[in-house]
Amino acid sequence: MEQTPSTHARIALDIDSTPGPNAADASTPARGGLRTREAGKVVALPENDLTILDGISLDIAPGERVAIVGSSGSGKTTLLSLLAGLDLPSRGEVWLDGVPIHAADEDARAAARAAAVGFVFQNFQLMPAMSALDNVALPLELQGRPGTDAARALLQQVGLGERLHHLPRQLSGGEQQRVAIARAFVAQPRILFADEPTGNLDRRTGIAIEDLLFDIDSARRTTVVIVTHDERLAARCDRQLRLEAGRLQA
Ligand SMILES: Nc1ncnc2c1ncn2[C@@H]1O[C@H](COP(=O)(O)OP(=O)(O)O)[C@@H](O)[C@H]1O
Ligand SMILES: [Mg+2]
Repeated sequence: MEQTPSTHARIALDIDSTPGPNAADASTPARGGLRTREAGKVVALPENDLTILDGISLDIAPGERVAIVGSSGSGKTTLLSLLAGLDLPSRGEVWLDGVPIHAADEDARAAARAAAVGFVFQNFQLMPAMSALDNVALPLELQGRPGTDAARALLQQVGLGERLHHLPRQLSGGEQQRVAIARAFVAQPRILFADEPTGNLDRRTGIAIEDLLFDIDSARRTTVVIVTHDERLAARCDRQLRLEAGRLQA
């Protein structure tokens, strides 16, 4: 390559070249869907290789809500990272929103995430020096789109219309997670990933956060993949996938 195009130009190019649903190729998964085939994750440790995930094959349809459950250390977060294109499988295939992540370079993976994916984390992961409004506007602004109006509307929807200019540390845990949910939805993702979104909240606040997440999703029919220990939250999903020691249980 002679010249490095700007990040925005590169993302636009990558989005345009993203394969969409293609009637001629039944093996290409649909936009908004997820697929893995015999996906595995192995990390090299000083003594030996550690297999974290092994032989994971699954399909998640556009608009479906799926809970990933299993004990601590069973590989849930690692699987979510693979599905979301944040990490690469050591073997096998991962398709995100019609994009073969296992065959994509970092730029193409970043473009697939920017085009399709929202995230909610257990620890909120807001930018500490940015206001609630700026945190929520950020995903759109990183795509070179104006974000403030959409961010303000979503913060109103999550009940924080009076807290637009507060920093994360001026907000409670539940309020920070509301900001994070607004941020996750602001760019209208086709797929939302949440890793134990209520894990750091008291029960009552957690339930309010679940309700909010499902309410916003109901209006949009986003595909939702939630890692959770919470039986109640898992039961609200269409389907549960159980991991044990890095393998999916039937
Ligand atoms: N980069 C890594 N290097 C070494 N071990 C890892 C790494 N990532 C995860 N693990 C290990 O893999 C297992 C699964 O981790 P994780 O996916 O975080 O599980 P869960 O989210 O279900 O608690 C754990 O034993 C964890 O310590
Ligand atoms: Mg985890």
